[in-house]
Amino acid sequence: MSKTGQPVTMDAIVSLCRRRGFVFPSSEIYGGLGSTYDYGHYGVLLKNAIRELWLRAMVQERDDIVGLDSAVILNPAVWEASGHIAGFSDPLVDCRTCKLRFRADQLDQGSCGRKPSKRPGETPDCDLTEPRQFNLMFETHVGPLQDASARAFLRPETAQGIFINFKNVSQLARRKPPFGIAQVGKSFRNEITPGNFLFRVREFEQMEMEYFVPPAEAATWYAYWIETRLAWHRSLGLRDENLRVREHTAEERSHYSSGTSDIEYLYPIGWQELEGVANRGDYDLTQHAEHSGTKLEWIDPDGTRYVPHVIEPAVSIERIFVALLCDAYHEEVVGERERTVLRLHPKVAPVKAAILPLIPRDEGMATRAHTLFEELRRRHVVEHDDSGQIGRRYRRQDEIGTPWAFTVDEQTLADETVTVRDRDSLEQERLPLSGVRAWLDDALERDWRSPQSG
Ligand code: GAP
Repeated sequence: MSKTGQPVTMDAIVSLCRRRGFVFPSSEIYGGLGSTYDYGHYGVLLKNAIRELWLRAMVQERDDIVGLDSAVILNPAVWEASGHIAGFSDPLVDCRTCKLRFRADQLDQGSCGRKPSKRPGETPDCDLTEPRQFNLMFETHVGPLQDASARAFLRPETAQGIFINFKNVSQLARRKPPFGIAQVGKSFRNEITPGNFLFRVREFEQMEMEYFVPPAEAATWYAYWIETRLAWHRSLGLRDENLRVREHTAEERSHYSSGTSDIEYLYPIGWQELEGVANRGDYDLTQHAEHSGTKLEWIDPDGTRYVPHVIEPAVSIERIFVALLCDAYHEEVVGERERTVLRLHPKVAPVKAAILPLIPRDEGMATRAHTLFEELRRRHVVEHDDSGQIGRRYRRQDEIGTPWAFTVDEQTLADETVTVRDRDSLEQERLPLSGVRAWLDDALERDWRSPQSG
């Protein structure tokens, strides 16, 4: 929320990300490359935290899901079988007047290249072509030949790498349905209209899990995964009032889906898909079995054979990244001073604690602060900051969402205690220096709820 009480805007998030080094426009010194971004230090830390928490919930803490890391460039026959070559396209229109291209089904979100900018088709001089299908896969060539025989694609989803490994994994993982295969990795889509910062980009990191179940159990597991994934997003600290589930209509569903629900987040651009949970039936395994000639089925010990059905929760780190920042962003006036604070759940905060010597040139304070920093950094991402006034240092940490700051001051020299300042409540208490490590370990395990919850 802004200091005027208005909901946060995407511009405020972009500006904070730039100012504090979370995210930069990519290739900036060459004028950028539309809707492509590079991540700075805090962006990397936040992405790492999201990825690790997903892997922990989906693999580490479960007996029924194993990991996989498949290649980005697969045999092109994979995309033939999956239906992506024929059907992974969006309808596109060109405007002969402004020379830009738009998604025909999202003209109300497009912005014309002329000034003042208009919605495409809004004025009589907009001259739009008939819609035609535009395939979203990026093409490349494998090896030195540039002809059709060498044509390949950058994967537009990680899911297909999982299906084509079903046989390998089910034979070796000693799991029987219901069991899942989880994968995190880059996916690429030549989106016609990327935009809204990281929300729709052409290169993004997907976290997908394919859960293989006996056909009769598909509906039950579909409901289970919607609830489980919703609970996980809440566990990251996202506020309840900003999350909802929306079931797709039959017209909206992808070619493979017999049921899809979006977990939506209330972004500054409105309710939008954060994560999709799809009931893919036996579509993928059947397609790959037909096209490859390899049987992709499960045989029970009693000899019963079946093609498992698949429930798929799929999300990108980018969509979670933006949702977390929007949810956490808060501007307020404290005393006479304005501050911007990211009220992130401590477990996703890029930096868990700051160690601040009040007077850096005081040798006693500097030494103690450094010793504490060295002790804490072995277990957590912490930051030592000795530049500038203490108030400015606190505000810098507030803006990157650091939940606690330990300040070494005059009293530390007298009684070996430090101040711990809480980012959200701004309360301060004193702790023995020797107990800081245990205190921080403990604090990171505590339940946390956004102070901004309604
Ligand atoms: N395997 C199924 C699949 O890929 P999807 O709904 O197209 O389904 C799954 O994508 C998730 O990937 C979405 O819910 C969203 O979180 C993320 N995603 C898709 N396209 C994206 C893009 N262009 N930029 C960022 N994230 C994207």
